[in-house]
Amino acid sequence: MNQRGGRRIGVPVVARRGDERRTSEKRSAAPNGRGFDLAALGYRAKDQTRFGAGAHIVCDNLVRIYKAEGIEVVALQGLDLLVEQGELVAIVGASGSGKSTLLNILSGLDVPTAGLASVAGQDLLAMSAADRVTYRREVVGFVWQETARNLLPYLTAAENVALPMTIAGRSKNERRARVGELLDVLGVGSCADRKPAELSGGEQQRVAIAVATANAPEVIFADEPTGELDTSTSELVFEALRAANRELGVTIVVVTHDPLVATQVDRTVAIRDGRTSSEVVRRTSISEHGHEEVIAEEYAVLDRAGRVQLPRDFVDALELSRRVRLELEPDHVGLWPDQQPRAGAVPTRPAGLDDEGAA
Ligand SMILES: Nc1ncnc2c1ncn2[C@@H]1O[C@H](COP(=O)(O)OP(=O)(O)O)[C@@H](O)[C@H]1O
Ligand SMILES: [Mg+2]
Repeated sequence: MNQRGGRRIGVPVVARRGDERRTSEKRSAAPNGRGFDLAALGYRAKDQTRFGAGAHIVCDNLVRIYKAEGIEVVALQGLDLLVEQGELVAIVGASGSGKSTLLNILSGLDVPTAGLASVAGQDLLAMSAADRVTYRREVVGFVWQETARNLLPYLTAAENVALPMTIAGRSKNERRARVGELLDVLGVGSCADRKPAELSGGEQQRVAIAVATANAPEVIFADEPTGELDTSTSELVFEALRAANRELGVTIVVVTHDPLVATQVDRTVAIRDGRTSSEVVRRTSISEHGHEEVIAEEYAVLDRAGRVQLPRDFVDALELSRRVRLELEPDHVGLWPDQQPRAGAVPTRPAGLDDEGAA
């Protein structure tokens, strides 16, 4: 369309016949006949392949609106997230961005206002109250930020780990063997006979990971498990999460605002304003000198409707607001600030919009 062969959005292009044809084709393909492409908006017909089919955790267009005293707070606004079995994923984001809301939904404590969520093949919206109890007891485990919320104060570390297995009806021998194994894997084997008050904060959180893992859940959710700990202690807790992930094969989703987390987990997903906005993927490679090095690469998330959230510093640096211009190049898309309209310029219709289409 322009001389370099790319396509532009935001430059004056007068509609031509060819553009009209494209417009009408698109309109007739819209299932509701009103010119909206519902598939592009994230809606699907029932028989289509599900978004994230086969993923261990699927969040599909999750919305959670809290209503309090007539005020609505949109905590999640169409969040998409896929986690594969066996992944260790961190969720980061500013306070109030919706991280705990997401974890509460995935752990079966809360239900979304709209959208779909499933964990280990179980649909979180279709569960009965009884299913939910079983789900919380057998399919998922939790570690909370407040160390005191994770462990019973009058039981030893070993007794705390054994308790969920007792409730699930496991034999005494089975319990004893598993308690020993878990505490060893998590590096707190020497703490078995101590009560929480006799453990450091980091030790308590590592025992809490053992409790969460006791009944061999599919997934562990941890909401800021190192929020009350200093940096070096946090590292030990992350090491324990990695050990649980690697040696016990459990999928882990951990919410944190520890900025160093990206180097400790497979993938870091950033949430902004109730949506996933960027991801950092960690990979190890061998450098030219033969050393193993960890490379963390950041990506913006493109959702199924084609939306990308620009980082706030990018928006500020170019003073982008409301509208931007786009240009499709052979291997990338360029983005510019909206041009100030020249005084007296004749307004030009964007390509492909006639009176009806613009309505
Ligand atoms: N029970 C609730 N009632 C009303 N608003 C809530 C409730 N829980 C959370 N919120 C609001 O939802 C938004 C997201 O909160 P939350 O998920 O706790 O964020 P984060 O864990 O990232 O700090 C915030 O604006 C918060 O004030
Ligand atoms: Mg929170």
